[in-house]
Amino acid sequence: TMDTGSYVDVPKDLLKEIERLEQLFSTDTAKLKQITEHFVKELEKGLSVQGGSIPMNPTWVMSFPTGYETGTYLALDMGGTNLRVCQITLTEQKSEFDIIQSKYRLPEELKTGEADDLFEYIADCLMQFIETHHGDTGRLEKLPLGFTFSYPATQNYIDEGILQRWTKGFDIPGVEGHNVVPMFEAALARRGVPIKLTALINDTTGTLIASAYTDTKMKIGCIFGTGCNAAYMEDCGSIPKLAHLGLPPDTPMAINCEWGAFDNEHKVLPRTPYDIIIDKDSPRPGQQAFEKMIAGLYLGEIFRQIMVDLHDNHDVHIFEGQDISALRKAYSLDSSFLSAIEEDPFENLSETADLFQTKLGIHPNTHELELIRRTAELIGTRAARLSACGVAAISKKKGYTSCHVGADGSVFNKYPHFKARGAQALREILDWPEKTDPKEEDPIEILAAEDGSGVGAALIAALTLERVKKGNM
Ligand code: GLC
Repeated sequence: TMDTGSYVDVPKDLLKEIERLEQLFSTDTAKLKQITEHFVKELEKGLSVQGGSIPMNPTWVMSFPTGYETGTYLALDMGGTNLRVCQITLTEQKSEFDIIQSKYRLPEELKTGEADDLFEYIADCLMQFIETHHGDTGRLEKLPLGFTFSYPATQNYIDEGILQRWTKGFDIPGVEGHNVVPMFEAALARRGVPIKLTALINDTTGTLIASAYTDTKMKIGCIFGTGCNAAYMEDCGSIPKLAHLGLPPDTPMAINCEWGAFDNEHKVLPRTPYDIIIDKDSPRPGQQAFEKMIAGLYLGEIFRQIMVDLHDNHDVHIFEGQDISALRKAYSLDSSFLSAIEEDPFENLSETADLFQTKLGIHPNTHELELIRRTAELIGTRAARLSACGVAAISKKKGYTSCHVGADGSVFNKYPHFKARGAQALREILDWPEKTDPKEEDPIEILAAEDGSGVGAALIAALTLERVKKGNM
């Protein structure tokens, strides 16, 4: 945080704006506690027969790994930014694996184009991967594949995924309400790709299972990346919407919360005018209220909205007389832009100044630079603190007082201070006493996860084949 002393020379009107933003973006302890209380109720509602706004999707992942799973599997990750294909070998040695992988760009046009084009492209990438790593595909037995499809999906079986709605800026017509597996398999068949889809999984479920493979204290899997979401293991006895299946109440079932949809009805989250504009201009207004305040896809856009507003409106008129046309382009600043601002090590914020100049053609003055830095801090801090409410809510619901949480995603791994700010918020929400030794572990620690959409997908494929062999669903 910036000490207030550095604002001594800041002109009054600029200071007024900084204070206004601080107000708008504030998330004090009381607020976080209130959000968490509401969150717990919403998690429960999502499991009920009538349902709520958080989907709480059963995933048919019904056990933690033992660490002794073996075999070779393919994993396909369609996350939102990249496409990744992996081959994972779970070795005889406990909790060990080998992995080879290729990354492919997911062309922007495919995210809002036709379903066929998307699945053809995916099939092409898979084919290319197999040809590179297996030579002649004709002679191969079909390889089992775990498909990480990280969008809300209804699953009556583990190899089914009826898309509830697109998230993360995707908008491909004719897929919502449909099972994506046949679309995927048809594209594979057309290309003659020798693959059998064994399990369709969410990245959070993959993260949960991959993390538990190497650390049995792991109880929650989170993604803080392009999107934001979590999964945890529930007992079927606490899932009223599955009661009709008559499963024994102590049967474990991983739940993909899809908590990005938390507070879609705007009861508790402290929304700003900027959040409201982003929602309105998104392909799915009214959806993913929580995600739109936290996920990497939106952080840079929140910042951009603020900058444009402070140029056009209010009394400050930042960047006065300058051409801000580059800044007016929606989604032109991604979260790495904010990361760079928060990371600027120089007292005079010279790196931030360079960034504005090269990327946007704007020359901020000294005071504007301070406003820029403070704005980035406010957005990044709010995101980290709100995300802790979700972790606290699952922990409270499950009665976990001590566990590990596996987290992955670009925001968690790369955004400066995200981890520390999240940990601090968790401490406030759960009323933990101050640490006596800074090296001491917190009762609930959010740690970097194992690769969920690679290793996690392979493990889930392995667990599924094992379960099928035993004749259980
Ligand atoms: C979005 C998706 C969700 C995914 C998350 C992180 O929230 O709806 O399925 O887990 O992004 O990628």
